[in-house]
Amino acid sequence: MNTGSFPSSRPRRSRKSTWSRDLVRENNLSVKDLIWPLFVQEGTNHAVDVNSMPGVQRQTIDLVIERAAEAKELGIPAIAIFPQTPEALKSENGDEGLNPENLVCQTVRAIKSQVPDIGIISDVALDPYTSHGQDGLIVNGYVDNDLTLETLVKQSQIQIDAGCDILAPSDMMDGRVAVIRQMLEDSDNHKAQIMSYAAKYASAFYGPFRDAVGSRGNLKGGKDTYQMDPGNSDEAIREVMMDIDEGADSVIVKPGMPYLDIIDRVSRELNFPTFAYQVSGEYSMIHAASANGWLDLDKTMMESLLCFKRAGACGIWTYFAPVVAKKLQNI
Ligand code: PBG
Repeated sequence: MNTGSFPSSRPRRSRKSTWSRDLVRENNLSVKDLIWPLFVQEGTNHAVDVNSMPGVQRQTIDLVIERAAEAKELGIPAIAIFPQTPEALKSENGDEGLNPENLVCQTVRAIKSQVPDIGIISDVALDPYTSHGQDGLIVNGYVDNDLTLETLVKQSQIQIDAGCDILAPSDMMDGRVAVIRQMLEDSDNHKAQIMSYAAKYASAFYGPFRDAVGSRGNLKGGKDTYQMDPGNSDEAIREVMMDIDEGADSVIVKPGMPYLDIIDRVSRELNFPTFAYQVSGEYSMIHAASANGWLDLDKTMMESLLCFKRAGACGIWTYFAPVVAKKLQNI
């Protein structure tokens, strides 16, 4: 690459004004890049603040429908639904996750009928439903992979029947994309997408999310026997290759900001649609620092999201979605 040398080359020339910086910017953030995760709870016309996530609430179905309509209005392409299951409905085996009338299925059905043309993503994993907060079934103190797969297929089935467009397995069991894809093919469903959390790390940045879905207190031990080790990078490539091979339509790298190198490698080495998940802890850190007056909330938010695009993400899951969508469109 010929970069030129000073003074024939003066990079500051193109930085001299806004219009000029706009012209040469290599990556841009658009409202079409955003996926908005929403937390749903039982009841009607009720919202509860998630204390560790300023500006984020758990909302009843009627209000989540309003959020879906808002997302559509703002041009956000897709929303993702996460349930807070009442403690009384949680169990060792997370059976509520397989109930076609559970919160997620009710929500998906309601949104489908009232807000057409918005992508609905549902989470495939057992942790919102298990009394122990793990993502799978425990046998002799260990999250059993193959037994869990059977449950995940059933969970996927009821979510698809409810009308979700994209299944997002976040459980990190080996082989789950294959069995879910098989189930879809067996039922002649050629439209349902799988966006797999292919490179999901055992991260401390998920803490506030566990408050939101009410699993933090229940969780004993970590998720290190199935989520990835933060020290690994080549393994992420292998995980993603497996999921592509098994029938994923797109993949997620999670968390986002501390793992930009993984987003870069996955998107550029595998040339496959790669999404970043700016997780709860990242969101809360930016809010906490700005509440202290240490960071500018808006600027930090916009920069953090643009950097995902530079790293190679084709889209971003972010709790900032509605705020960013408005800012991008001067609303
Ligand atoms: C669980 C799940 C988690 C998140 C999404 N799905 C937490 C976990 O793995 O413990 C985290 C999202 C976030 O922190 O924003 N299957």
